Amino acid sequence: MFKFFKKKPTESPSLQKESNEKGDGHFHAITVKEVRRETEDAVSIAFNLPEDGADFSFLPGQYLTLKANIGGEEVRRSYSVCVAPHEGELRVAVKEIEGGKFSTYANRDLKAGDAIESMAPTGNFTWAPTGTASHVVGWAAGSGITPVMSIAKSVLASDDESTFTLFYGNKNSNSIIFKDAIDDLKNTYLERFEAHHVLSREDQGTDHLKGRIDAAKAEKFAQSLIDLNKVTAHYLCGPQEMIETVSAKLESMGTAKSNIHFELFNTSSPSTEAQAASEARASANASVTVVLDGEETHFEMGPKDYVLDAALDAGADVPYACKGAVCCTCRAKVLEGSAEMVMNYALVDDEVKDGYILTCQSHATSDRLVVSFDE
Ligand code: FES
Repeated sequence: MFKFFKKKPTESPSLQKESNEKGDGHFHAITVKEVRRETEDAVSIAFNLPEDGADFSFLPGQYLTLKANIGGEEVRRSYSVCVAPHEGELRVAVKEIEGGKFSTYANRDLKAGDAIESMAPTGNFTWAPTGTASHVVGWAAGSGITPVMSIAKSVLASDDESTFTLFYGNKNSNSIIFKDAIDDLKNTYLERFEAHHVLSREDQGTDHLKGRIDAAKAEKFAQSLIDLNKVTAHYLCGPQEMIETVSAKLESMGTAKSNIHFELFNTSSPSTEAQAASEARASANASVTVVLDGEETHFEMGPKDYVLDAALDAGADVPYACKGAVCCTCRAKVLEGSAEMVMNYALVDDEVKDGYILTCQSHATSDRLVVSFDE
């Protein structure tokens, strides 16, 4: 039975954000406080808060959009915060990926004292206490652990009753990011935190935990290691395939869609057919206005153009990071006319209903379109 609880007093200054307000869409100068090696190919990076006074408080699970000049090229990437707001520090984790400009730079060159730019924390993949004890389940693979760690720490610190179960997939035990931190959580919250490591290239002595987290594993875990009826929310972060198969399995086992939250690393491109169909519905020549910081930029765009690219071409300094429907940095609201997104993995249903679009994915479907980045 759920019990009501009081929040524990925190010792460190809290960076807890009061509501999920979007950041101001601008980059702020911040400096690197510490770069800590987590695994052979992953670091976590702590930052000093910006000196311009910008609000960098965050909700568990949110991310930073970082910008750096690497070899003369401006590179932007989003990375999730890996700590909880009550810990009083701002830290993200970055796993080096082959050919990844930013991740290679972060893993090999970045050091304490370096200056970098970041937007204020933002994102919809968040958890907030509900007033009753929660039982939250995290499903993560590789660096997908990053926001899940922030959420797990927040859930466990929120009261004395809430519990967290983690299913975490990796190649082998050496590639487990935050292995020590996960062990610390196990020791601190003996009765309330469980972690199950699923390894694809290491035998742990049981078939149960060998392989990848997929639909079959999710079904087995849901039947034997958690009580699905008591789970208040699932948080999934990892590759698209894991997210799609696990969430479909959880739904087929009776979990409400609204209790399944997910964040993708990246996405595959839309099919040629989907793209062509969307272009066919787009306006042949739309007259577009984008509003940013109260200023208007006017331009025309064709059926193959995306609002974000066309706005950048027209000289508007509109915010973006992934350009792949994942990060939500390019979110704007349609004030007049209509637009259609080819892909959306970042906006929740209510935002879409309220007229928000991912401009990096949107074609104009009316001859006149006005979108605002200020809403
Ligand atoms: S820039 Fe990331 S969703 Fe558009």
